[in-house]
Amino acid sequence: MDSIVVQGGTPLRGQIPIAGAKNACLTLMPATLLSDEPLTLTNAPRLSDIGTMKLLLESLGAEVSALSDGKVLAMSSHGLTSTRADYDIVRKMRASNLVLGPLLAREHQAIVSLPGGCAIGARPMDIHIDALTAMGAEIDLRDGYLHAVARGGLKGARIALRFASVGATENTLMAATLAKGTTIIDNAAREPEIVDLARCLRAMGAQIEGEGTPSIIIQGVDRLHGATHAVVTDRIELGTYMLAPVIAGGEVECLGGRLDLVAAFAERLHAAGIEVTETAKGLKVRRNGERPRAVDVITEPFPGFPTDLQAQMMAMLCTAEGASVLEERIFENRFMHAPELGRMGARIDVQGGVARVTGVDRLRGAPVMATDLRASVSLILAGLAAEGETIVNRVYHLDRGYEQVEQKLSAVGARINRVKGI
Ligand code: EPZ
Repeated sequence: MDSIVVQGGTPLRGQIPIAGAKNACLTLMPATLLSDEPLTLTNAPRLSDIGTMKLLLESLGAEVSALSDGKVLAMSSHGLTSTRADYDIVRKMRASNLVLGPLLAREHQAIVSLPGGCAIGARPMDIHIDALTAMGAEIDLRDGYLHAVARGGLKGARIALRFASVGATENTLMAATLAKGTTIIDNAAREPEIVDLARCLRAMGAQIEGEGTPSIIIQGVDRLHGATHAVVTDRIELGTYMLAPVIAGGEVECLGGRLDLVAAFAERLHAAGIEVTETAKGLKVRRNGERPRAVDVITEPFPGFPTDLQAQMMAMLCTAEGASVLEERIFENRFMHAPELGRMGARIDVQGGVARVTGVDRLRGAPVMATDLRASVSLILAGLAAEGETIVNRVYHLDRGYEQVEQKLSAVGARINRVKGI
């Protein structure tokens, strides 16, 4: 298994290009199942999770070609051969469950392995199941698989989600595009990835209003046609690299960055005394001299502070002046990075979903273990500020959601490299 080695203490200077969003691409790819005409995605990120979704779609009979060095995905599902998403693929990536809605809508049946829990939480699918059942699907769990049928097709319905779940909103939105009649999703998730999905579906001929608000209205149509869609910028990769100069010092411009995608996060940086400016090419972040100030953070659904930036923010707050309180409200077990940061000399006291972080003058390098995607990059960020060498093990987690981390960071002056198979 690869590891990443970071020598800390070097201020960063330069530009980092931000890729297309993993979490948008993972819901845009299953949208190809809704039409027998080609769907092409541009600005696609090159990540192992995208490779896994490609395998899943191919296992259903879709064709997926990665062109232009993987940045363009040309997809077609004119001849589906299966409606079964196998455990062997689903267990590798939970987002595989986003084929459920499109398959039910187009083929009126689907067998999808239940993903099970993961490092950050139990992550059930009850909200997805309730929403699709309200649209007339019959879904039952057998041998670890959801067996779903929609006799005569799905029907429009008014659905109030128990929680503004991103995945449940995406599955229901895709399913509703081909349902008979009107669907209204209340308490819908408002994440930019959902806005991007709605835009792509509209380009395919869907009738959708209200994406980005708590209530989405979808008028079902008989069929969808082909389209080409550019994947939105990855706001989590953006936030991650905005934190790099905050934790290591210096000035970095994130190319393609947009303030509207990270407003709640940028507001916390501002409160910590960090300068964030919009440029013609993106967002520039600068920290010269003074340590950031401690700030409190609560994770919430968009437009609140994103849970996917919580670990990275914790790494930064470990070096801040004063004590911060971080509350994780989305996932029940998302502080696995705290004890690893503790190995680097951080002072973190975790009580349930609340972590109290007392900033220290200097972190110290150490061998640490990545436990999940965002935890792994938070350890790399901490390594940028630490005295000496940090070795982050199990970085396969990282490759799921960050393309070319060591190249992007060393391009702005970081001393970082990947070591094969330690
Ligand atoms: C998406 O996961 C993202 N993944 C996650 O990013 C992100 O953390 C999450 O949204 C929240 O922003 C992708 O888009 C592929 P949810 P998702 O349904 O859709 C509970 C990353 O690091 N819930 O909004 O699975 C659930 O357990 C990943 O890139 C139910 O109880 O998130 C969780 O506590 C990690 N029942 C909360 O809701 C359900 O049926 C939010 O989950 C569905 C969800």
